[in-house]
Amino acid sequence: GAAVEVDISTLKPGEKITAEWRGKPVWIVKRTPETVAELAKLDDQLADPNSLRHLEDTPEYARNTARSIKPEVLVVVGICTHLGCSPSDKFTPGPQPSLPDNWEGGFLCPCHGSTFDLAGRVFKNKPAPDNLPVPPHMYLSDTRLLIG
Ligand code: FES
Repeated sequence: GAAVEVDISTLKPGEKITAEWRGKPVWIVKRTPETVAELAKLDDQLADPNSLRHLEDTPEYARNTARSIKPEVLVVVGICTHLGCSPSDKFTPGPQPSLPDNWEGGFLCPCHGSTFDLAGRVFKNKPAPDNLPVPPHMYLSDTRLLIG
């Protein structure tokens, strides 16, 4: 198949790299332990906090609070689940106008304002119906990721 190998050895906390898999951008984001700890607190603001609506979009090994194999490394398809725009990064913590109160960073879709947390989970009452999908992936080593 068209699996893609990605070296994440230089990825630092707060950084994102984009790989291409089946013509789609796959984001690999390194989160801090603090960010991971914040994720569980957002549940009541999210449309589908446990990613139960489309189980096929969250592989079994990513069905946890961080939606990931390694808590600190998020791997998601970077395409808005509304109409397919490309969300931008909002890694800056702290309150920002028109964003959820305890916004700790995540992704903001410029087309119609959907917001996603740093696990790719969509906030409630946004046009995007679903969380960003987690593609099938595995670790070949500590720093080598295989997507697909
Ligand atoms: Fe992202 Fe509409 S395409 S909010």
